[in-house]
Amino acid sequence: MADDRHLALIGPMGAGKSSIGRLLAQALQRDCVDLDQLIEAEAGADIALIFELEGEDGFRDRESRALAQVLALTEPRVIACGGGIVVRPENRALLRAHAGIVLLSISVDEQMQRLARDRQRPLLQVQDRRQELVRLARERQAHYNELADLVWPSGQGRPAWIAARLAERLSQPATGAPP
Ligand code: S3P
Repeated sequence: MADDRHLALIGPMGAGKSSIGRLLAQALQRDCVDLDQLIEAEAGADIALIFELEGEDGFRDRESRALAQVLALTEPRVIACGGGIVVRPENRALLRAHAGIVLLSISVDEQMQRLARDRQRPLLQVQDRRQELVRLARERQAHYNELADLVWPSGQGRPAWIAARLAERLSQPATGAPP
């Protein structure tokens, strides 16, 4: 993956995009931008409150604006995206045009374990969490796969280990073969 482009981490909730993104950025000597954190900082409110006050559409508008803003930066960043970044076609087009894309993949079972104690994510405040995660995966998986230049399993192991392996892979010279 060319190293003069942004590197975007995409994938489902709980895949470790934020923690792996931070560590990967250190390893690649880049800054990391966590889109959810940027959205919260600009709104002066956390994601849960944004969903409550503006609905999911309001959040998605903010998310699209934040993505465009970060992708317009000239110095390449590692960008940790929210799980729903792939829902809007304009986000997918922007990512495709301006970033190398790594899909951090995780199964629904692994998500259930990782997110068991989560009380923050608005989309998980439902009775049947598994059903919701399966529904989101059905809606999004094809977009994740289609966008990904590289798919990296992240459901097992510590973020530091996953980030170190991924940094190694990304630092290898391109072979001309598909990633
Ligand atoms: C969302 C994922 C969250 C956050 C918001 C919506 C989604 O980010 O953007 O709660 O639609 O999957 P993480 O994937 O970092 O949890």
